[in-house]
Amino acid sequence: MIKPPVVLLKGKHSFLVEKFEGQLHTHHGIINLEELRNKNYGDEIETHLGVRYKILPFKPADFFKHFKRSATPIMPKDIGAIIAYTGLSPDSLILDAGTGTGMLAAYLAYFNKYGEVVTVEKRPEFAKIARENFKLAKLKNVHQIIGDVRFVAEGFKKEFDLIVLDMKDDVEFIPTAKKLLRISGYLAVYNPYIEPTRRVYETMLKEGFREVESFEIIRIDLEHKRIGTRPFTRVWHTGFIVIGRKV
Ligand SMILES: C[S@@+](CC[C@H](N)C(=O)[O-])C[C@H]1O[C@@H](n2cnc3c(N)ncnc32)[C@H](O)[C@@H]1O
Repeated sequence: MIKPPVVLLKGKHSFLVEKFEGQLHTHHGIINLEELRNKNYGDEIETHLGVRYKILPFKPADFFKHFKRSATPIMPKDIGAIIAYTGLSPDSLILDAGTGTGMLAAYLAYFNKYGEVVTVEKRPEFAKIARENFKLAKLKNVHQIIGDVRFVAEGFKKEFDLIVLDMKDDVEFIPTAKKLLRISGYLAVYNPYIEPTRRVYETMLKEGFREVESFEIIRIDLEHKRIGTRPFTRVWHTGFIVIGRKV
């Protein structure tokens, strides 16, 4: 027997179902959600027009598509790079500022199974949306703080293995981030613009970070048509990432 949340999938269309009650209106017709109670993953459910949707469990790969949005979230391609280049281990203490939609925090928490993600957001209405997303994803290892990280951080007593900044005051926060990191811990800073990225890079060098690298990850999709296959991009630029290590 299955439990919510589940994803209903038909081709490129997918719907998140959080409760097995009421009706879901799709462009293929109406689905009676109570019918989900007698189904299993991999079964199909029919709309009143006879169109079938596949029933799948809600997985981390669905976070990006189905989380409620507030501030612009980091895309999975960039999240993957942050996780891989900082060598995240699953028992880390991570600081994520600011939370925004909570996309990065959720993926970090998922891959940091035995550790904790402390995420700080200054706007309470954004923090509320992120909290709903963490609940949806059943993540128990996210500790949310509402406030300006520049002041909140003064109260931190523990050392972090990884600090990720995706917020306006990133350059200003770098010296504090250096103090908060344990030896060999990483700072990753994500920024959509080139000028602040350069300031982040130079400040990290000045603060004594080592192995500092700045880069952009570009995803090029392939379009497979009958006539042939060619590259295309939905989103070309997202953001620049600067990563450095405290030694
Ligand atoms: C681009 S969003 C972060 C998106 C997030 N990384 C995600 O993947 O969903 C930036 C967020 O940082 C918050 N913010 C900006 N300055 C901050 C500060 N000094 N302290 C805490 N949060 C801050 C903003 O309110 C905004 O929600």
